[in-house]
Amino acid sequence: MEHYFTSNLEDYNHSFESGTIRYESPSNIALVKYWGKHPVQIPANPSISFTLDKCKTTTSLTFYKRKQFGFCITVDGQNKASFEPKITVFFELIMDYLPFIRTFYFEIETSNTFPHSSGIASSASGLSALALCLCRLEQKLNPKITNQELQKKASFIARLGSGSACRSIYGGIVAWGQSEIQSDCSNYWGTSVDNIHPVFHNYQDTILLVDKGKKEVSSSVGHGMMNQHPYATARFKQANANILALKTVIEEGDLNSFVEIVETEALALHAMMMTSRPYFMLFKPNTVEIIHSVWQFRKRSNVNLAVTLDAGANVHLLYPASQKEDVLNLINTELIGFCENGQYICDNIGNGPMLLNEAYA
Ligand code: DP6
Repeated sequence: MEHYFTSNLEDYNHSFESGTIRYESPSNIALVKYWGKHPVQIPANPSISFTLDKCKTTTSLTFYKRKQFGFCITVDGQNKASFEPKITVFFELIMDYLPFIRTFYFEIETSNTFPHSSGIASSASGLSALALCLCRLEQKLNPKITNQELQKKASFIARLGSGSACRSIYGGIVAWGQSEIQSDCSNYWGTSVDNIHPVFHNYQDTILLVDKGKKEVSSSVGHGMMNQHPYATARFKQANANILALKTVIEEGDLNSFVEIVETEALALHAMMMTSRPYFMLFKPNTVEIIHSVWQFRKRSNVNLAVTLDAGANVHLLYPASQKEDVLNLINTELIGFCENGQYICDNIGNGPMLLNEAYA
């Protein structure tokens, strides 16, 4: 399957001395979690996510024709030598799929709408934005590539940088990994999920910033721990069952089941971390306080408010747009005290990445 995306330098019939491409690409929040992978970036189980709208990365890729490949990277205008090893590995992985890379020097300028130290991972938005810039450049070099092919290849390329990034290429609800929910699902790229009930069209995600520090254990290390994990087989089976059940829930708009599946997944993800060797825990006391407050709130109200977490202490509150007033009221009266400096971000399902501008010479 990998060969499907291989290009040859002879495929390129246009050439440019220099230029700039700028994309913005959003983050996403998984409903069924990707946790565990095989080389190279093949997920151990399928996952599904909401693409966000406001939490996003803007990346400018400026390129100069050169005899040899090279790159530099800035984040919010600051040189980021610390990002270079990860981006170097990424370029090495994608060279054969985008062979023009060998003949350019790249300046990558990237910035996030969410604060760098918010505990919100920028790898999904950042690597999807970079993958889109590179695949757009390839399309300009070879105009036979259709927009649909560009998107699919960008998802494939983004996956090689960070698994969850392949889901950020599309708006709405996106699945990644082999499963029976749709015939076009693949381990190699994300797929836009269809037949979505209208209640999900403007679903809300309010992110409570519980701990804005750097994660104690990176996702990559966490994924690795699933290799020897005593509960791995059961966990992968559970994720497969949950994604199938969630697909029906998404079609039918069954919000009670939505809450149950989403919360099972969040707790299962953290249970895997707490039962691996070495074990670790990314929850903070305030994460647990918020979860309990939400569960009590659900008992006394009709609000379909679900809690989910990614690999960190921040809490994502998922709920229908029609219930926003009640949820914001809960946040401002009960939950805000559990957030670092009272901070939270109001986001919602978004339409996916956008090409902002481009220039070629
Ligand atoms: C808990 O995509 O960050 O957010 O492929 O190693 O870059 P790498 O991992 P990453 O893992 C995300 C894990 C998660 C769940 C999810 O988004 O599905």
